[in-house]
Amino acid sequence: MKARFITFEGVEGAGKSTQVKTVAACLSERNIPYILTREPGGTKLSETIRELLITPSDQPMATLTELLLMFAARAQHLEEVIRPALREGTWVLCDRFTDATYAYQGGGREFTLVPIATLESLVHQDLQPDLTLLFDIPVEQGLARAAKRAALDRFEQQEIEFFERVRTAYLARQQQHPERFRLIDASQDMDQVTAAVQQQISLALKGWL
Ligand code: TMP
Repeated sequence: MKARFITFEGVEGAGKSTQVKTVAACLSERNIPYILTREPGGTKLSETIRELLITPSDQPMATLTELLLMFAARAQHLEEVIRPALREGTWVLCDRFTDATYAYQGGGREFTLVPIATLESLVHQDLQPDLTLLFDIPVEQGLARAAKRAALDRFEQQEIEFFERVRTAYLARQQQHPERFRLIDASQDMDQVTAAVQQQISLALKGWL
């Protein structure tokens, strides 16, 4: 079976990082080889770029800088990890990918979408995720969960309107790409979210087998 590329998206506190492990368990049960990775990050260099991006600083970062750093980290990640894994038959489970750029830099920061699409085609070439699970949750509920975890990073310090725009942009992406997106109601109890994820993965696997 061709190796598949699955991405996980959602606003902070939607529980996507936990659900990456649910999908990993589904693949392990079927003896499907996979790697877990994340963006920004996933390689030594990309993790260094991640630190620049998420560490709060008293020096404001221009939105264009932020956008270019996201794609710089992604280019390295694709070259060093994602493409080689897919080539050798290993599935890739990635916690956030380019839909996050449309949601955060496009929606949240209100950066125009045309340059994002240009960078996307430069960096991805023809590669797109096979499946994207979008964990949707009301922003206040997600932020309340995220606030319990640790000190807030540079993105988590944004005002609530920023995250409302992020959520709206994610839902717009889902509408534009219904063939690859699956919407998961992440406001439910964790067990219900896990069951919904397992169901979506079983369906997807049936379609791919
Ligand atoms: P995390 O919440 O998954 O750890 O991701 C770190 C932050 O990076 C999160 O607030 C979303 C943000 N981000 C973007 O703004 N654009 C992107 O393209 C990606 C991948 C993440």
